Amino acid sequence: MVKQKKILVVFYSRTGNTKKVARIISKQLGAELSEITPLTNYHGGVGFLKAFLSGMFHRSPKIKHYKMPTNYDLVIIGTPKWPGGVSSPIRTFLKNEKFRRVAFFCTKGGLGSPFKPMEKLSNKPLATLDIDAKETSDNSYKQKIVDFLNKIK
Ligand SMILES: Cc1cc2nc3c(=O)[nH]c(=O)nc-3n(C[C@H](O)[C@H](O)[C@H](O)COP(=O)(O)O)c2cc1C
Repeated sequence: MVKQKKILVVFYSRTGNTKKVARIISKQLGAELSEITPLTNYHGGVGFLKAFLSGMFHRSPKIKHYKMPTNYDLVIIGTPKWPGGVSSPIRTFLKNEKFRRVAFFCTKGGLGSPFKPMEKLSNKPLATLDIDAKETSDNSYKQKIVDFLNKIK
């Protein structure tokens, strides 16, 4: 019998875009899903400003307790693109946890990438996937997800 790979999808999402992609990926892979929640409230206009500054100054805010990732063959980590690259809650997560096999995905407005800082904090990814606002609105991101999954399977 072929052993089923144990895969975890971890993500943070402020407005739901990254969550949407995380859900599709975890469903396709039959992977567990774990959402990172910061203690800081990043919602609304003031929250946006806090998020912006937190990203720009590479802060690592406290995050709520999450499912401890142990014994996974692969951990897939998703983040929205923020200034400084990776969102601050995922920065904290990556500082806390180290994994041997990782893959990264992000959603973004259109500019920049979080993958270099994520690699620095974690490990070289098996594959990366980035989806911008235009791709989310015309659904072309679904093919990109298929390509990403083929690389990590
Ligand atoms: C504080 C802040 C800074 C952002 N900076 C960028 C950026 O530099 N480049 C970019 O393409 N998108 C940027 N965005 C847009 C988000 O990355 C994008 O909307 C993403 O899909 C949001 O994902 P979420 O809904 O999972 O939070 C920024 C969003 C926020 C809140």
